[in-house]
Amino acid sequence: MTATASPTAAPAWAATDLTTLADLSPGDITALLDRATEFVPTVGEASCEHRSHLEQSLAGRIIANLFLEDSTRTRGSFTVAAQRLGGTTLDMSGKGSSISKGETLLDTGLTVAAMGVDAIVMRTSVNEAPHMLADHVDMPVINAGDGNNEHPTQGLLDALTLRQRLGSDLAGKRIAIVGDIRNSRVAGSNIRCLPTLGMDVVLVGPESMCPDEPISGSPHATGSITVAHDLDAVVAELDAIMMLRVQFERGSEIGDDYAERYGLNESRAARLPGDAPVLHPGPMNRGLEIADAVADDPKRSAIRQQVTNGVAVRMAVLERLCASPHR
Ligand code: NCD
Repeated sequence: MTATASPTAAPAWAATDLTTLADLSPGDITALLDRATEFVPTVGEASCEHRSHLEQSLAGRIIANLFLEDSTRTRGSFTVAAQRLGGTTLDMSGKGSSISKGETLLDTGLTVAAMGVDAIVMRTSVNEAPHMLADHVDMPVINAGDGNNEHPTQGLLDALTLRQRLGSDLAGKRIAIVGDIRNSRVAGSNIRCLPTLGMDVVLVGPESMCPDEPISGSPHATGSITVAHDLDAVVAELDAIMMLRVQFERGSEIGDDYAERYGLNESRAARLPGDAPVLHPGPMNRGLEIADAVADDPKRSAIRQQVTNGVAVRMAVLERLCASPHR
């Protein structure tokens, strides 16, 4: 564990923002995951001694959390990540900011930038709003979820969790991402990340929730992306499964048979091979896309591990984008 040391070699990823995972090569992703792996022992409940050695690489930096949609895990873990590295955070949400008075997203972003913060972490219901802000400000912008488009740090923390469960070489491993694919930015980033690491991704859900093939992931992909509608036909051939929340707030609708056809209940989970892990980004609709017994299964469920990894990945991203002079 060398969380005190800076990365030995800077990753080739030359970007100053993180708005999409499509730009990252396998080496870029691996470098971020390797660095996050060094941070993992500093996160979690029994980690005080490791934390005392953390380099305060964000000392003096202010990270603005501009969260215009609700969040528990992402906002909380960006805050913990920044503060563990010695930074401070400015928390802003839609309610209580001038967005509620009709100020445009761009004006709000430019206003926060004009205060001289060192980075803006943005969550919004508007697709590509973080990309637009990044074009207008002279500081790193990190996409913390834009509409139904992408959620890059979620994709990275999912990849880290899969590496821990399946081994560091994910090439040739098969994962199903199940449920409301079309409206899920988590799926959006995972299809740009996991095939870049060589994983084969099968998207499973009702036709109304699945994108049309062929699906464009990342130009760096070596793994495949396919679509299936019958979960029972694929479940026994998976190395891992990721369940998605139905995005009711984005207008998603389900039939009465949704849980029966696409929910991960105990009997379906029992057909997963070996120790194939179950992932879910949270928040969960328990009893709909995932049964309590599966979500809380201490062996299969990786859900809490994902949360811990979320802090470690965000530490790696903040360090990479904000710890040294940029632009
Ligand atoms: C996800 C999100 O907001 O996109 N949550 C998260 O960040 N862990 C998934 C979801 O809300 O379904």
